[in-house]
Amino acid sequence: MSLQSETRRRRTFAIISHPDAGKTTLTEKLLLFSGAIQIAGSVKARKASRHATSDWMEIEKQRGISVASSVMQMLYRDHVINLLDTPGHKDFSEDTYRVLTAVDSALMVIDAANGVEAQTRRLIEVCRQRDTPIITFVNKMDREVRDPLDILDEVERELGMACVPMTWPVGQGKTFGGIMNLRTQTMTVFESGSERLPQDFETIPLSNREELLKRFGHEFETAEQSMELAIGASPAWDHEAFLAGKQTPVFFGSGVNNFGVQEVLEALVDLAPSPGPRMSHLAVNKQMVDKQVHPDDPNFSGVVFKVQANMDPSHRDRIAFVRMASGKYTPGMKLKVQRTGKELRPTSVVTFLSQRREAVDEAYAGDIIGFTTHGGVQLGDTITDGASLQFTGLPFFAPELFMTVILKNPLRTKQLQQGLAQLGEEGAIQVFKPQIGGPMLLGAVGQLQFEVVQHRLKTEYDADIRLEGCQYTGARWITADTPAELRQFMDAYPQRMALDAANALAFLCTSPYDVRLAQERFPKIHFHPLREHA
Ligand code: G4P
Repeated sequence: MSLQSETRRRRTFAIISHPDAGKTTLTEKLLLFSGAIQIAGSVKARKASRHATSDWMEIEKQRGISVASSVMQMLYRDHVINLLDTPGHKDFSEDTYRVLTAVDSALMVIDAANGVEAQTRRLIEVCRQRDTPIITFVNKMDREVRDPLDILDEVERELGMACVPMTWPVGQGKTFGGIMNLRTQTMTVFESGSERLPQDFETIPLSNREELLKRFGHEFETAEQSMELAIGASPAWDHEAFLAGKQTPVFFGSGVNNFGVQEVLEALVDLAPSPGPRMSHLAVNKQMVDKQVHPDDPNFSGVVFKVQANMDPSHRDRIAFVRMASGKYTPGMKLKVQRTGKELRPTSVVTFLSQRREAVDEAYAGDIIGFTTHGGVQLGDTITDGASLQFTGLPFFAPELFMTVILKNPLRTKQLQQGLAQLGEEGAIQVFKPQIGGPMLLGAVGQLQFEVVQHRLKTEYDADIRLEGCQYTGARWITADTPAELRQFMDAYPQRMALDAANALAFLCTSPYDVRLAQERFPKIHFHPLREHA
């Protein structure tokens, strides 16, 4: 198959939701219907076993939240579908944002009783910034839920996106009769239970109205009316508008009952985009110029959007998850980490087929491959087979919470430094080293990040720490047009300057006024609330 056909048949998407909306359940059903797994229950089981096998995830277990994100690949209708899971808890939103930079579309799961919830709203903002196309699945229609028109209205309002219903529910809760499929003009009849495959559900053509009225009576009539209203209120389906993140196709169903899921899988193949071009910087005569990397470009390139360290604590290994942007990967290929110019020497290279890690035979743009290494790779790194380019857009957010690290046993300083360096490179926390010396500072976007890091430092690096509050409430990354200007600024605020894990210079603030005052004093200095890896 040509490189172009390989990239065309790929779909890489993230599944996003507020915790408990049914993301894990839907993921499992998608894998089940694509044939990637045989038995229902294995994703759920994995969710549980992750707790059991991984020590630091004790925290996750205690709080019943999903912290780590993972990758799954499946084959459906001759398409390669890469599904990226995202942590649901808001304290790990940074991880989620980075996962969202690695996908071409997103599947949003909404609990039909709760509508658009806080966490979903934040994720959607990120998708909108990037114009990521979104497919919406309204779940739990087998429960007493809200009126579907109400839900559509809320999605439109909250997300600023026009909803185009693709299926429409007949009844809900005890009277849930099924969904009308607007494309095939049929009604699929709901039955509860989790054993049924999509083809096992009965379908009745909508043209057979008499039969539908006989079986679903008042519910059917009401559904017809509300569907008409919904169609009247929504624009005609426009694939381009969907690809531009301006329209979202909406599906209804019940994940736990395998119902309405097939329609979503079909939409991923039929509607979701294949990998598109990605922006990068390319060094030309020592100058950085913008370059669009096309997925069909034969040269290998990809970006590390996630690093997970100590998957096997006895080996101190780390997996760098690389989203391929172009070319073809084959085993044994010589690859370079652009930041260091060094060759990447992985101990293994894996894909995440059917949730198992398997050695990669070949991979293409859109695929996620995991390089196991003992170091030398960090979040945001660009990997290529030669070209000196650097992908842009992987965000680091200025932390809003800061803690000072106090090591309980000073003899463990080396372990602490190693642990903090690695956890910083992994993006689990941001580490700031004050320029005037003194204890390290940890910066986070969510409180729980501190707890995870404290726990991991102890269990993985044998460094027991205490965290103490400090006066900082924010940070801005600093750049200047000339080294002299930067020097002047640094001399003016020696106590406020710190370096992060990537050696980027930051200004620590104690109040929002700090930045304003500093900016007034030094109008030529640039203060960045977000650092994009570049
Ligand atoms: P999450 O990953 O988004 O956090 O959600 P998850 O799939 O774990 O689902 C959260 C709860 O909602 C689970 O119940 C799950 O069974 C239930 N659920 C998912 N889809 C549906 C649906 O379509 N209808 C109904 N009625 N429930 C649904 P739980 O009690 O927390 O777990 P479990 O004991 O059932 O596994």
